[in-house]
Amino acid sequence: MTDSSLAVVVLAAGEGTRMKSSLAKVLHPIAGVPMIGHVLSTAAALHPAHTIAVLRHQRDAVAEVVAELTEGVTIVDQDDIPGTGRAVELALEALDGFDGDVVVVSGDVPLLDAETLAGLIADHRAHDRAASVLSAVVDDPSGYGRIVRTDAGFSRIVEHTAASEDELAISEVNSGTYVFRVGPLRAALAKVTTANALGERYLTDVIELLAADHAIDAQPVAFPWLVAGVNDRAQLSEVAARLNAMIVRGHQLNGVTIDDPATTWIDRAVTIAADARILPGTFLNGATTIGANATVGPDTTLRDCEIGEGATLNRVDATLAVIESHATVGPFSYLRPGTVLGPNGKIGAFVETKNATIGAGSKVPHLSYIGDTTVGEESNIGAGTITANYDGVAKHRTTVGSHVRTGSHNVFVAPVTINDGAYTAAGTVVRKDVPAGSLGMTVAPQRNIEGWVEEHRPGTAAAEAAKRAPKE
Ligand code: UD1
Ligand code: CA
Repeated sequence: MTDSSLAVVVLAAGEGTRMKSSLAKVLHPIAGVPMIGHVLSTAAALHPAHTIAVLRHQRDAVAEVVAELTEGVTIVDQDDIPGTGRAVELALEALDGFDGDVVVVSGDVPLLDAETLAGLIADHRAHDRAASVLSAVVDDPSGYGRIVRTDAGFSRIVEHTAASEDELAISEVNSGTYVFRVGPLRAALAKVTTANALGERYLTDVIELLAADHAIDAQPVAFPWLVAGVNDRAQLSEVAARLNAMIVRGHQLNGVTIDDPATTWIDRAVTIAADARILPGTFLNGATTIGANATVGPDTTLRDCEIGEGATLNRVDATLAVIESHATVGPFSYLRPGTVLGPNGKIGAFVETKNATIGAGSKVPHLSYIGDTTVGEESNIGAGTITANYDGVAKHRTTVGSHVRTGSHNVFVAPVTINDGAYTAAGTVVRKDVPAGSLGMTVAPQRNIEGWVEEHRPGTAAAEAAKRAPKE
């Protein structure tokens, strides 16, 4: 249900210089979701009447992602005047006529959850405040704005760069997350100047202005990591590790065995059924789904894959592949987009597949490349088979029927069909269709030239060995 007196403003106009990246900071992914996506999900969970994202740096790239991720977010462009205060002021222009509370969050604080924010909002409303700041008590407050409390209570926020010796010692810091009543916020912002070291209009300056004649307070968050900001790539990895630990734990509590949380990385959108087992060194990315009793890993990466019940994948790299129930893959298999392996099927060691449907019970056990191919049911593809699917201009399909047995070291020169129940001999280059039940073979007669080694490689170990060999 929409909270008609709630608006959320997401600040994401800053340059993010400390990331040293050509990608906008808020677009760096965490658990498979751009950083700003986590903030937008949290915002959406509050059901606000309005959500505004303030953008400037890489505006179009960020706006595109915002539109992809969430509906109904209004983009506000920050102008040449810098500072978080200016950003919020411009957001309020887009909230003309709105009368209620404005939550301000940063696009670079991705772990903040909706429960924490909802608690802050409830408290803010219960005490009828003009401003409620989410603070955090941290071991190392450097870089953060400090929460200054006097006998009269919370009085102002001082930025690190402007803090006195005594203020620098304060361990309660501003998380950059706030709830404001819109009227007093508007009035106070109008009075904020650029009189500071960076010449920016700081949002934090409204606190001192509001403290004069309104109720305000700062509330420490239960766990400081909830409001950890990402300013550089070291913090990016810390935040990602924290989120991953929570995701892993969530699956464990849902009945998934995860042997080694530290080396198992699971994106936010992944689903795993109970009694699946995930072994160390495994990356489950994108919209991957894992069925019950499946075993995945070790050292396996799956991107947007669908893994059926009871399937086993060992040392696999797969993208957009579907592995049906009780099929087995690996070790050392490379599954490219469009691979579908039917129930009880097998893709074995050192096999690459692409755009290939391999039917129920069919096997590609060893050392093969199977691309642009359809294999029926219960067929076996011999070791070292290559589908020659590309003629240099176009790709062609190979079709293999059901109950087919192909020999080792075959080349299927597509387009070509090997029909149901056919066999092919070892070393066959299949250029013509093989009719059902036939044996296809391209066997060139083998010639042995007697005495060749003695004549052409005299005195070598091979020649000596040949001399010693019993005569036939
Ligand atoms: C800010 C706070 C600081 C707090 C810290 C918490 C101010 C002045 N300081 O500092 O008290 O401890 O967050 O993480 O607010 N942004 C804009 N427009 C701008 C500048 C920034 O939209 O002109 C956005 C940034 O993209 C970012 C957020 O505001 O998402 C915070 O800006 P940032 O430069 O990271 O501020 P901090 O130095 O972290
Ligand atoms: Ca920041």
